[in-house]
Amino acid sequence: MLRIAHKTTFGLRFLTTERKSVSVVGSGPSGFYTVCRLLAKAQIPLDVTLWEKLPVPFGLSRYGVAPDHPEVKNCEDTFSRCAEEFAHGTGKGHSFRFVGNVDVGRDVKLKKLLETQDAVVLSYGCSGDHKLGIPGENTTAGVFTSREIVNWYNGHPEYSGVKDKLSSFDWSKVRRVGIIGNGNVALDITRVLLSNQIKDIWTHTDINPEALKALNEAPVENVKLIARRDFSHSKFTNKEFRELWELERFGIRGTISPEFFKASQFDMKNAERVFKRRVEMVSEYMLPFDQRTKKNYKKHRPPSTIPSRTWEMDYLKTPLTINGNSEGKLESLTLCRNILTQDNKLEQRKSDTLNYDLDLLITSLGYGSSALEEFDALQIGFATNRIANTNGYVLDTNGVIVRGLFAAGWIRRGSSGVIASTMSDAFEVADAVIAELESGSLPKNKDVDLSRINYTTWDDWEKIDKEERSRGQLQGKPRVKFLSTHEMLQFLRK
Ligand SMILES: Cc1cc2nc3c(=O)[nH]c(=O)nc-3n(C[C@H](O)[C@H](O)[C@H](O)COP(=O)(O)OP(=O)(O)OC[C@H]3O[C@@H](n4cnc5c(N)ncnc54)[C@H](O)[C@@H]3O)c2cc1C
Ligand SMILES: NC(=O)c1ccc[n+]([C@@H]2O[C@H](COP(=O)([O-])OP(=O)(O)OC[C@H]3O[C@@H](n4cnc5c(N)ncnc54)[C@H](OP(=O)(O)O)[C@@H]3O)[C@@H](O)[C@H]2O)c1
Repeated sequence: MLRIAHKTTFGLRFLTTERKSVSVVGSGPSGFYTVCRLLAKAQIPLDVTLWEKLPVPFGLSRYGVAPDHPEVKNCEDTFSRCAEEFAHGTGKGHSFRFVGNVDVGRDVKLKKLLETQDAVVLSYGCSGDHKLGIPGENTTAGVFTSREIVNWYNGHPEYSGVKDKLSSFDWSKVRRVGIIGNGNVALDITRVLLSNQIKDIWTHTDINPEALKALNEAPVENVKLIARRDFSHSKFTNKEFRELWELERFGIRGTISPEFFKASQFDMKNAERVFKRRVEMVSEYMLPFDQRTKKNYKKHRPPSTIPSRTWEMDYLKTPLTINGNSEGKLESLTLCRNILTQDNKLEQRKSDTLNYDLDLLITSLGYGSSALEEFDALQIGFATNRIANTNGYVLDTNGVIVRGLFAAGWIRRGSSGVIASTMSDAFEVADAVIAELESGSLPKNKDVDLSRINYTTWDDWEKIDKEERSRGQLQGKPRVKFLSTHEMLQFLRK
């Protein structure tokens, strides 16, 4: 096999005719970083197809990252530059195409991809929920998962649009909110709920306008973030935690009961820097503004009025039942107290219970993932919340590597990690793909028949993107998103 490339005045050109085909399934950060790395590093000419279930790309960068964190979405510019270079045929002898609105497993079979492509990378993320599995969770009105809330306020086509269940929920009665879990998603949602009426924060974002209108109605007074373990096992990161404290400038106050936080209770000498910083943060922010000892925590003087909106970190509790009224609407949550044993095991004290009256309950337990339906027939292994794999090489149900099949991102590792860690993960997998292709896998390189499928292309995405941005420009926002697949396809048909 020829693997020689030489530079011409037009860039890198390959002397081999033996092109290889790679399909990447899912166009979130892991799929896109995999594509960009493949196209940047491969020394054999590649035809790369990026498949996406939605008509538009970018996964959780577009539909997960909070609208008031636009800088996090800068990765989309990197992805677009890469796609434009290769989709329009100028890119180093490789080709790239985006195929949106195609659910792999349903519209195009994975089996077909495995038969026709030299390599397939599964990077379809986690688009399910974890459940508490307690009475009332699935039947009580006013109980939502973090994914439902986040998808809704970000305008995800499957969760927004006319008459969606969250826009029609009665937000005008929401004063007391409980969130189970204290990861960064729980913090994002707390910030959104408590600052819902602060125009400075939301007016110039791409938040779903329908969601913002509904959220504006909510007179939220208190959000309790309820964790099963203790302060030292909090899942959030310091930057996001600080952002919550900083809402004090708008009169939104945070608190942690001394029952759960006493700086003197921690072994600070042996603690890691991150934890020391976290303890310092709480100790300082809990002090009245003028008594704080470090400048770092005195950036914005809070208003002198008594805060009407508060959040609190609540620890060592496990939800037992969700209680509704006679109409099935949420009334309260029953929990039990927990203790952490010396060897760090959680023990529930089921007889030591308490009740929180709530108007809205959100479970924020991380995102769940699932196997594609074909996995059974293809004997592809699926472990808890991720595809069975070793270093990104997918394993079959006997633990043997399936040649030519890889997994990257959240579907490889479960729903944890930020975009930067997803990038390193994707690069590692792309390098493994290149190594396998260069080692001379069986030639396949047949195309997948798309003639009966109504799919979107990169050019289509560019049209949608342009339209969303120009709608946004009129309102001083980065973009106003299309809220349904139907609307997007209608627009493209014009
Ligand atoms: C609410 C939330 C906020 C976050 N905020 C931040 C943040 O501020 N900063 C940060 O660094 N990280 C943040 N993260 C983490 C970050 O979003 C993830 O690290 C990253 O998106 C994971 O990328 P992924 O490509 O593996 O999955 P995803 O981004 O979920 O992408 C998966 C893609 O696959 C598509 N897909 C699914 N099934 C199929 C199928 N059958 N066929 C074709 N396509 C399919 C999906 O539509 C989706 O586009 C956040 C995560 C969440 C949940
Ligand atoms: N700004 C950002 O950088 C940003 C924003 C959002 C998300 N992200 C990233 O995205 C990833 C996912 O975030 P996430 O918040 O969805 O998940 P997460 O960080 O895994 O947090 C999940 C939370 O749910 C709790 N939990 C899980 N199962 C439970 C159960 N059965 N009962 C009670 N509590 C339960 C966990 O408690 P235990 O700890 O006890 O298991 C934890 O507090 C993280 O890596 C996060 O950092 C980053």
